[in-house]
Amino acid sequence: MRIATVVGARPQFLKAATIARRLRDPAFSGIDEVIIHTGQHYDDNMSGSFFRELDIPSPGFNLRIGSGRAGAQTGAMMAALETCLDDLKPDLVLVYGDTNSTLAAALVAAKAGLPLAHVEAGLRSFRRAMPEEINRVVTDRLSDHLFCPTKASVNNLATEGRRENVHLVGDVMFDAYRHTMSHIDTVQVLNKFGLAPRGYVMATVHRAENTDDPGRLAGIIRSLAEIAEELPVLLPLHPRTQAALDHSGLSTGAIRLCDPLGHGNMMALLSQAAALATDSGGLQKEAYFAVVPCITLRDETEWIETLDSGWNRLAPPSGKKGDNTIRDTILGAIRQHPGETPPEVYGDGDAAGKILRLLRDI
Ligand code: UD1
Repeated sequence: MRIATVVGARPQFLKAATIARRLRDPAFSGIDEVIIHTGQHYDDNMSGSFFRELDIPSPGFNLRIGSGRAGAQTGAMMAALETCLDDLKPDLVLVYGDTNSTLAAALVAAKAGLPLAHVEAGLRSFRRAMPEEINRVVTDRLSDHLFCPTKASVNNLATEGRRENVHLVGDVMFDAYRHTMSHIDTVQVLNKFGLAPRGYVMATVHRAENTDDPGRLAGIIRSLAEIAEELPVLLPLHPRTQAALDHSGLSTGAIRLCDPLGHGNMMALLSQAAALATDSGGLQKEAYFAVVPCITLRDETEWIETLDSGWNRLAPPSGKKGDNTIRDTILGAIRQHPGETPPEVYGDGDAAGKILRLLRDI
């Protein structure tokens, strides 16, 4: 069986790595995987470094599409993918998550009559203004096989009338976290960054709803800068955020800025942080796995289970001057975290094995 795996953006490399690693098991020797990289992320620290660090097989094809407005970017991916899948003739197309690369591959596979499998199916923010929400809804609708990370995602699909070929397998991000933490030297990473255990806040911002709204971005940066007066705040900058900051001329005060981090460094730093403030979907869960309080800089989250135990709390950026919600929520999470280890709701750490067994037996 030949699987064409289509990836393009940073979180997808991490997810695809779990399947590629599990495929080395002789039990799956009948599956031949070819990775197609759309080129949505292309900077070395957003792409190449992940392939090296996570030992992901080199892509069989790199479409080198790069950046662009959503329509142009997705359209260019579709045109290139159509030719590529014609050549490759896979038995199945495998996609991850909710990026424009996911959507492009789903549309091309469906139109070519190729079976489509979606990993991280059923997630919903219920906000159509979010580009990722449109990508998820369309991809799920077109997919033949839906691999869900959580009960909530299975329920979302059921509410939409979809019950067939829906599999609760757990979250491949949990597989990835366990693998990375099994070989990372956390002390060495903390020393390299000059940080003390539980003595700093990690932060990331990259969602269009935050970076492309000057008021929201200003509110987030001002809050992080205020925290940085008391406690080091490390903010690795996604290129979109770097560009927005350059354009806005906002002062970042004492916030420690750095380039995007590799996965190992990021997990080591996250696991020892006093708290994480983020708008990333993946990092919300990684904080949960690491039992680190998370403050989500969004109006809602798809990972609602993380809110139940109190380890994740929402701090919606209002964009209003003088709104201290973000700062106060971060300080509150550090001073008063729930204490008890949260329940394991993302599977047993072998979601990749379950997905491959199901695919093998199709
Ligand atoms: C995309 C995904 C988002 C995911 C995120 C992970 C969509 C709609 N969004 O958002 O769901 O959480 O990836 O990072 O697909 N850029 C570079 N170098 C790169 C990549 C991007 O400079 O290697 C710059 C480009 O100028 C681009 C901007 O970053 O305009 C945004 O990149 P894009 O791929 O459009 O979306 P992300 O914000 O990364």
